[in-house]
Amino acid sequence: LKVIASAPGKLMLFGEHAVVHKHPCLVTAVDLRVQVSLEKTNDQSLLINTPHLNAEGRSISIPFDELFNDDLNTPNVKFILASIKNAFSKFNIRQGIRIRTSGPVNSYGLGSSSAVTVATIFAFLTLFDIPFNNKLLFDLSYASVLDVQKLGSGFDVASAIYGNTIFFQTKQDPEVLKTDYLPLVIGYSGAKVSTIDLVQEVEQKRNEIPEIIDLIYETIGKITKRARTAILNNDWKTIGKLANINQGLLDSLGVNTPRLNEPILAARSSGAFGAKLSGAGGGDCMFAIIDENSRSQIEEAIEVTGAKVLHLGLNAEGVRLEK
Ligand code: PMV
Repeated sequence: LKVIASAPGKLMLFGEHAVVHKHPCLVTAVDLRVQVSLEKTNDQSLLINTPHLNAEGRSISIPFDELFNDDLNTPNVKFILASIKNAFSKFNIRQGIRIRTSGPVNSYGLGSSSAVTVATIFAFLTLFDIPFNNKLLFDLSYASVLDVQKLGSGFDVASAIYGNTIFFQTKQDPEVLKTDYLPLVIGYSGAKVSTIDLVQEVEQKRNEIPEIIDLIYETIGKITKRARTAILNNDWKTIGKLANINQGLLDSLGVNTPRLNEPILAARSSGAFGAKLSGAGGGDCMFAIIDENSRSQIEEAIEVTGAKVLHLGLNAEGVRLEK
C-alpha cells in the first residue's frame, strides 16, 4: 500500500517577526506543492528519496537505531526524519518505510520544509489508519519543525495544513479567510541567510531596547488586523498602504536589504498600491499589491532590478491525498 500526500508552500503577507511574539500574521498558500509518498517495507530502516538526493544520484537508507543521527544536511531530509521520529514515538510504531518526495527543487524560500513536514505526517497518519484532525496534524508537524530549527511561530505549518489565506496567531485556531483572489506580483530577490539567524538578530535587538521593539511588534499586529478586514473587503488600496507601513517597520527591525528594497521601490513607482518583503527578510521574496491593469508594467519594473517574477497560484489548497 502506498499513500501519497501533498502540501502547498506559503507566502507571508503581513505580520512576520511580530508573529513570533504572539501577534497575528496573514499568510497565503502557494501552489508550489511538495509530494510525499510513503510505502511500508519489510526492512528495519527508512529509505529516503528526494529531488536533491536524486540530483546527486543517491538515496539514503537509515536503520532505526541510527534515526537519531544528526549529520544529514540534505535539504528536507531532517524534516522528514524528525516527522517520522515523532510519529514513531507518539504511536509506538517501528515499521520499515520507503519515503519519496517530489516537488520544486528551488522553492524560493516559500516553505518547502513546512510543506514536506506536513505532507509526511499526513501520509503517515493515513498509512497507519490513525484517526486525526487538524489540531493533531498541526501539533505533530510543528513539534517536528521545532526539533529541526528550534524556533518559529508555526505559521508555515498552519498554512501547509489549511491552505487558502489564513489569519494565524500562535495557540489559536487559524481563521480561513473567505477570499479567493489576491492581486499580487511576487518577486524573488535571491537566497538569504537562515530565518533562524534573522529571528535571533531581531531578538537580540529586542533584548537591548524592548520598549521600542515591542511597540513595533504591536503596531505590526494592528496593521495585520486592519489588513485582514481590508482583504475581506477586497480593498486593495488600503492593503497597499498597510504593506508600505509594515515594510517601513520591517526596515526598522533591520531585515530589509538593497536587493529587496529595489524591486519594492520599483513596484511602487510603477503603479503598485504598495509593496513589502515577505518572510524573515534578508532576501527571498517581496510582493506588490496591484491593479490588474498595471500588472505587466509592474512585473517589468521588478525584473529590471534583477529580481525574478514568480508566477504562482495563491490561495492554494491545503494538505491533501493524491491519487
Ligand atoms: O523566512 P520565512 O519565510 O520562513 O518566514 C519567517 C517568518 C518569521 O516570522 C520571521 C518567523 C516565524 O516563524 O514566524
